[in-house]
Amino acid sequence: MRLDKFLSDTGCGSRKDVKKLLKQGAITVDGKMVKDGKLKVDELMDKVAYNGEELHYQKYYYYMLNKPQGVISATEDKYDETVVDLLSDADFREDIFPVGRLDKDTEGLLVLTNDGQLAHRLLSPKKHVDKEYFARISGIVTEADVKQFAEGFQLKNGEAVKPSQLFIDQLDEKLGETEIRLVIQEGKFHQVKRMFEAVDKKVVYLKRLRMGRLILDDSLDLGNYRPLTNKEYQLLDPDFEGK
Ligand code: URA
Repeated sequence: MRLDKFLSDTGCGSRKDVKKLLKQGAITVDGKMVKDGKLKVDELMDKVAYNGEELHYQKYYYYMLNKPQGVISATEDKYDETVVDLLSDADFREDIFPVGRLDKDTEGLLVLTNDGQLAHRLLSPKKHVDKEYFARISGIVTEADVKQFAEGFQLKNGEAVKPSQLFIDQLDEKLGETEIRLVIQEGKFHQVKRMFEAVDKKVVYLKRLRMGRLILDDSLDLGNYRPLTNKEYQLLDPDFEGK
């Protein structure tokens, strides 16, 4: 691959930044200063260094974030902090984005990556990727609701939702609240909230626990993130062979 591409893929900045670094003589390949970004390098064999420090080639980055409330699932926003603003300076890259969206007031599992193809596979309705949520509901969720969710039904605006699995974890009759888990394969706008509105109940707290077979690491505090392990990547990717 071209040296300038290698350098921008390893986080040395845009093509323009990389050009500057090369011009300054900050880049060596196998110990020799190189100023021409068009030079072909072998990303696995050649030793490319920036100011003497070896760069290790990595094309794709995958992070598990425990999204806090108040943060927007986008790469930029005029008013609010976004999920990519939570990345440290060392981990931030222009091409990293969240896979799908959680509402501003929803917490929990969000994958950040620069792998557009994986994001496409995860979000494609054809792949039927599970999304599991925990929610606190204002209202008493009933077995009739469980049955209705299992069969699929219409939202208040007439839009149809596919069958989903609803589990009642805890009922507090006095408070009039229910804790539930819900597994859906779709990702419609405000889907979980609108599903409960359709049965005249209100989601008062929502957290995503799982995407595909990838479970949120409960040792990650809200607002914290970490790279996915190889095993976790395999659990996430619906097309990973040898499941
Ligand atoms: N459903 C919602 O209503 N909100 C989310 O953030 C995710 C799923």
